[in-house]
Amino acid sequence: MRKIIIFEGSPRKNGNSSLLARQVAAGAKQHGAEVESFYLHGMDIRPCSACDACQASLATDCIIEDDLQSLYPRLRSADALVFASPVYWFSFSAQLKLLIDRCYALTWIETGSPLTEEETSYTFTTDLAGKKTGIILTYGDTDPFSSGAVNALRTFQDMFRFVGADIVDMIYGSAMAPGEVAENHGLMQQAFTLGKRLAETA
Ligand SMILES: Cc1cc2nc3c(=O)[nH]c(=O)nc-3n(C[C@H](O)[C@H](O)[C@H](O)COP(=O)(O)O)c2cc1C
Repeated sequence: MRKIIIFEGSPRKNGNSSLLARQVAAGAKQHGAEVESFYLHGMDIRPCSACDACQASLATDCIIEDDLQSLYPRLRSADALVFASPVYWFSFSAQLKLLIDRCYALTWIETGSPLTEEETSYTFTTDLAGKKTGIILTYGDTDPFSSGAVNALRTFQDMFRFVGADIVDMIYGSAMAPGEVAENHGLMQQAFTLGKRLAETA
């Protein structure tokens, strides 16, 4: 059975990005996947302190004792990851950024970090390689560029290219009031289909 983890990065439990995230979950479950969703705003996730303790080896997790400790094994074993967020100040939410920064612990820079003056490149391995991913973004503006959604999408593209993870689809659209996105039937369907695709290809 495919394992899919969905991270909801909005503080609004019934907000637009969470509604789309639930559509992904519904599509995935209907096609036989095991889905776990996490409401990040309700979790104790502290910022990365750049102590580099996680860089002892790929198997070494972060030493910060918070709710991510129970999530690291799940992140490692998941077949697919979905990141859902509102656009806040022209990027994704701080709740999601905290999680993403802490994914540093799933990536091991083998030649050491930072690079010495003699080193021109480094090699790294990561437990995120090969995972399927999906992205969900909602924003109040009507344009993906002026809203800042494109900045967030670019960040995800750079991140997943860096770790060698595949983006299966990016679901993004305009909605302001909580739940308003439910009227966008095309987007709701696209999210459901993403769940189906993650269940099949993860
Ligand atoms: C703190 C804050 C910052 C926001 N910044 C932006 C922004 O930069 N661009 C934009 O288009 N909408 C912005 N919005 C609007 C939200 O992106 C929009 O309401 C979105 O649908 C919320 O998603 P949610 O219901 O999943 O929380 C902002 C809203 C808040 C509360």
